[in-house]
Amino acid sequence: MYYVPHEKLDIKWTSKDSFVLSLPWVSMEIDVAEEDKDWIKDATEHLQKFASNQNVQKFIKELKDYPVFYIQPRSMKEFEGKDLQACPEIDVDCSTPHRFVESFGCEIEDNLRKDILPAWTWDREKILSKARIPNTDLYDPISFVTYLICYRLEWENTTWSGQDGFGQFMERLLKKDEDKFFQVIGWISRQSWYVTTESCQAMEPALTHFEKGRDWINHFIHDEAGHYKFMEQVFEDIELNKEDFPVEDGTKWLLAAHKKTAMISPLTFSAMINLFEAAYYEGQDPISRVIKLSSKPHAARGFDLHYKINQEHRHCDMPVNLATCLAPQTYTHALLTLSLFELTLNFLDKMEEQLAKDYEVT
Ligand SMILES: [Fe+2]
Repeated sequence: MYYVPHEKLDIKWTSKDSFVLSLPWVSMEIDVAEEDKDWIKDATEHLQKFASNQNVQKFIKELKDYPVFYIQPRSMKEFEGKDLQACPEIDVDCSTPHRFVESFGCEIEDNLRKDILPAWTWDREKILSKARIPNTDLYDPISFVTYLICYRLEWENTTWSGQDGFGQFMERLLKKDEDKFFQVIGWISRQSWYVTTESCQAMEPALTHFEKGRDWINHFIHDEAGHYKFMEQVFEDIELNKEDFPVEDGTKWLLAAHKKTAMISPLTFSAMINLFEAAYYEGQDPISRVIKLSSKPHAARGFDLHYKINQEHRHCDMPVNLATCLAPQTYTHALLTLSLFELTLNFLDKMEEQLAKDYEVT
């Protein structure tokens, strides 16, 4: 498999032995050892034009824990002889967000309907073009998922929560009104409690409908089981009752939609795990970071332990691990995935923005 550096990946040498690597969603300074200088220089010079250059491949491999690349679509030949999950027949109308919601057949709360997008805005053709298998109208599931993860990050960068609106709101709130701050932590923990309580049974149908991915799915379900206890720990530490906080309609949608995909689309099911996990790890959970600035820093424990497991067990790689079990994908399944991502991410963004409005202190 070939890595393709993301088209927005930019390298700037800041001195003879260090450079800054940046994308709209990640930036890091990297020091280069003397013995690596030659090949890294060569790689950074050929990054965009000659992705197949050996040094470029070696360079991206070193960075493969970060969302800075996608996988070049394989040829049909490369799928031959492998025991892969085929695409089931589905009938979902993805032409507009409203038609999508109606035909997807997943329960949606009336209140959430007002947040359904009026029209799609994502550049679907661009995403699909990165995954199209040469001379076919099929898509490489690994290319699709790896590029989609980058696209999500790029899109989030333009949204309120992606521009750290939420992190800044939390810090402001902590300074002005710590009681309200812990109310918001309670709200977050309640959503997370619901997700961790429901996610295992939501994934279970995939054990039968996505048989070729069964080992990974089983492993993942076991890894996630019981994680609601981390959130119960948080409620104890902040001395609040989880029952006092609502499970939001968007959170319920997220789980119900994942369960639906477990039954109808192995591709969408695999990709959607990305919505539950961090895209990559930055050393610290963002919620834990703000809790540690408060008078109850020990309440960060639940978030820290959960983050540590996700990080050590590389949960962010699950969508790609599962995609390795998939056969070439049809347009219908790729489109279903894009529709569900765009719709759900908008729900989640609006949900956080609304929370900030409800609790903002001026
Ligand atoms: Fe996880």
